[in-house]
Amino acid sequence: MSEYIINGRKKFDGIIKVQGAKNSILPILAGTVLCQGKVILHYCPQISDVETAINILRCLGCRVQRDNHTITVDSKHMNGYTIPDELMREMRSSVMFLGAILARTGYAEISLPGGCELGARPIDMHLSALVQMGMTFEENHGKIYCQTANSLHGANIHLSFPSVGATENILLAGVLAKGTTIITNCAREPEIVDLADFLNSCGAKITGAGESVIYIEGVDRLHDTQYSVIPDRIVCATYMTAVAVSGGKLFLENVIKPHMNSILSLIEQSGCQIEETKSGICIQSDCQLQKFPLIRTMPYPGFPTDMQAPFMAMSCFAQGTSVFVENIFDSRYRHAYELCRMGAKIDIQGKVAIVEGNRKNMSGSTVEAKDLRGGASLIVAGLGAEGTTVVKGGEYIERGYEKIEEYLSNAGADIVKI
Ligand code: EPU
Repeated sequence: MSEYIINGRKKFDGIIKVQGAKNSILPILAGTVLCQGKVILHYCPQISDVETAINILRCLGCRVQRDNHTITVDSKHMNGYTIPDELMREMRSSVMFLGAILARTGYAEISLPGGCELGARPIDMHLSALVQMGMTFEENHGKIYCQTANSLHGANIHLSFPSVGATENILLAGVLAKGTTIITNCAREPEIVDLADFLNSCGAKITGAGESVIYIEGVDRLHDTQYSVIPDRIVCATYMTAVAVSGGKLFLENVIKPHMNSILSLIEQSGCQIEETKSGICIQSDCQLQKFPLIRTMPYPGFPTDMQAPFMAMSCFAQGTSVFVENIFDSRYRHAYELCRMGAKIDIQGKVAIVEGNRKNMSGSTVEAKDLRGGASLIVAGLGAEGTTVVKGGEYIERGYEKIEEYLSNAGADIVKI
């Protein structure tokens, strides 16, 4: 259990190098079981979800070594096919191992995945796609027993919604399947492209990643590789919202700007100054923020659901009324009630949140993180609020933000973790 103590309204003046992307490294770690050899991954964030993925790999019999931001996985002697319930419950991405384990061993035992409580998060699309590729499964006493008669085979799979996780599971299952798999209406997130680039660097034949149709031509085996994951666009954007509410200047290094388009234009419209250079993005804020235009969360390249909470924290400090519509998850407003403890005025009606912003209302308080991005939004609010804020439930934030207190305090904020 950890908590963050923040003394707000300290101006930023510094540099942060953005960590590697959580939502890239997790499916890529699952993908390492497909290469019957050594994979060296660079730029891996030091966050607890990555530790969980490493523990899953070790349970499966893979050898994993970690040296700062580099992880080496040797899956040559992998002999397991079961993910223990306690690891499945720790994060939703544990389900990503299903396609990979099945492709490698023909058998997999999992239970329903856990992760942040964001409303119902079924895995029906994952299962039905794998069934189309030759899997059969039985559910018994909370466990899902999956197998293939021979090996997985290619299929034409149409997703009813561009699910990130389902697209990744099909990619992982498809690279060693017999024949060609085509996914239509697939997710187009940069993390999907990163997974496909990683798999292609091991010898897979995937084309179309980043577009709404992906083609996977099955190959017989994958080989060793070294790969660096992309920077985390959500972490980068969270730091930008922190500067927006606190004031000052921050240079963010290691950013892929096109991944941030939907976010940067809104931050600029709110009144912050953004300057792009070859090596990153500089943001400056004088704290005179204006309300946002209507924000609707959408699959990429739309506005990301993962940024809804930090943007809501920012809107609490802006002049005027901002309106959010959460279209991806049905219970992703739990941070709003905590923001209200800090003086925010937020009205929730189903999918819609209406925020009446006013910087003067925001004062430090004791609040509790209920999920990862909601937790980050409370840190953002604490940095901008008058006085001291205590954010409890730090373990949620540690799932996705590497040493957030260190990065922020080195750049001018007053925040400690206890
Ligand atoms: N859905 C189904 N059935 C399925 C799969 C998804 O109904 O079989 C629904 C979900 O319940 C949800 C919607 O489809 O309402 C979108 O879910 P998706 O599968 O796209 O999300 P995910 O793979 O579970 C990933 C990220 C999330 C991010 C979402 C949306 C990872 C590890 N997680 O989740 O990241 O919010 O995509 O972009 O990549 C986070 O980082 O804090 C986080 C929650």
